[in-house]
Amino acid sequence: MARGLVSRRRQRATSHEAIAIAIAADIPDAIGSLLDRCALFHVLDDATKRQLAARAQRRRYAVGEVIFRVGSPGDIMMAVVTGTVRIVATSPQGKEIVLGDLKAGEVFGEIALLDGGERSADAVALTKCELLALERRDLMAALQRNPAACLRLLEVVCKRLRETDERITEIAFFELPVRLAKVLLRTAAAPGAARAASPKVALSQRELGNMIGGTRESVNRCLRDWQRRGVIRLAKGWIILEDTAALTELAGLR
Ligand code: CMP
Repeated sequence: MARGLVSRRRQRATSHEAIAIAIAADIPDAIGSLLDRCALFHVLDDATKRQLAARAQRRRYAVGEVIFRVGSPGDIMMAVVTGTVRIVATSPQGKEIVLGDLKAGEVFGEIALLDGGERSADAVALTKCELLALERRDLMAALQRNPAACLRLLEVVCKRLRETDERITEIAFFELPVRLAKVLLRTAAAPGAARAASPKVALSQRELGNMIGGTRESVNRCLRDWQRRGVIRLAKGWIILEDTAALTELAGLR
């Protein structure tokens, strides 16, 4: 009887252990394939990928949820699995400027991770998001063994520096209508945006202002003027680019 109980317990323990082992094996695999979708991790050897996958955490965020704030300690880097993360700088008066919208396969949080300083900007979930979080010590160990991954991360940082330089130059040297035309064309041509004869942009006028360093009111004035001239059409939260050739000219790109 007692032996039967022990053996049933042993059986139960064995089946629990089996499930636990299966889950443990399954989680890194699932996370491993998520990591693989990210260009940065793609270059890692399988053993390193498995080690990182075993240590990575999946995190989910609701729309509008703050992922981290500027100035907070930065001991993790995140990879976007699904959704869009917005990187924002906010003035003490609450004025915002959008530094970037990051989508699946992109990473963020690399600056504080690499230099050991504080977060350089806020990160907010623009849509519902799933992220993978990797701790500094795990990622640094992987980077130290993988020069190819270091070079990929350098490419990410260089791309961001280029984009930031472009933004600063635009804000310093171009009038608001030129900046607005550029951002509309850029958004319509972004990876993942639907291709159409009259592309549609779903950004609000305040968001556009935040992206180009202008106010909602000045964006509204400019869009209304372009609507009168048939360049764009405003419809239920969409900006429809009716005449992309005219907009390209307004952006000074032709
Ligand atoms: P970190 O400083 O750790 O936290 C804020 C993150 O925002 C930063 O790392 C980068 O990942 C990201 N970031 C900062 N500036 C830009 C930018 N100009 N474009 C895209 N992402 C940025």
